[in-house]
Amino acid sequence: MRRPFVAGNWKMHKTLAEARELMAGLRAGSDADWKVTVAVCPPYQLLFPMGREIDKTPIKLGAQNVHCQPQGAFTGEVSPAMLIDCKCDYVIIGHSERRQQFGETEELLARKIRAAMEAGLDVIYCVGELLEHREAGDTEKVVAKQLDGALASDVDASRLTIAYEPVWAIGTGKTASPAQAQEVHAFIRGRLAEIFDQATAEAIIIQYGGSVKPNNAKELLSCPDVDGALVGGACLVADDFLAIIRAAHETGS
Ligand code: 13P
Repeated sequence: MRRPFVAGNWKMHKTLAEARELMAGLRAGSDADWKVTVAVCPPYQLLFPMGREIDKTPIKLGAQNVHCQPQGAFTGEVSPAMLIDCKCDYVIIGHSERRQQFGETEELLARKIRAAMEAGLDVIYCVGELLEHREAGDTEKVVAKQLDGALASDVDASRLTIAYEPVWAIGTGKTASPAQAQEVHAFIRGRLAEIFDQATAEAIIIQYGGSVKPNNAKELLSCPDVDGALVGGACLVADDFLAIIRAAHETGS
């Protein structure tokens, strides 16, 4: 059985003082017996202090982006080894905001995925369609291209999580229905079986992301191929994030 995995993508939120307050709330509500893997993904400037905050808790640390080179003249960028230094276990790669606002292509994302994994990071690779794609009936075509363009059989699947984040559901309050999410998750698993093999695909965690809230987490997480959540807005409030984690814990129990 796949262990549920809930990650919080803080995006560009929180100063150090605000982050410490959030972490104090998460620490107070955390439980060593959670049957769910939990990670927080703060912005870069918080990774080092948050690496200390999560010490002796079941909470893992992730980053929201990484460069594909190990070092060099890349102003403003951060390497995989630097993330490891900050005690990161995870890195989000290919978030739709990076694809759309920073022009990240699958060719670049493929390089980032490999570089991150080689350095010892687990990767949360994001895919998802725009509203216009969904309305045109192109969801599967778009998601397939995002998977095929960045993954291949030589990628270390044991370090891979997929996050399906329909772009029209991100930050909009419009969640995919459980049926819509399950349909695409099942499609993704089938595609992963073609890229890797069936047994490998069955073991890969596929998170859903896009307006996951305490009041909809349980029904989404109850879908057979929805193995966790990548949470944006609701992860900025300790009680909301904890409620989503508890929903995942219950589906994993
Ligand atoms: P929201 O939960 O705010 O919709 O954000 C989802 C997301 O983009 C997580 O990566």
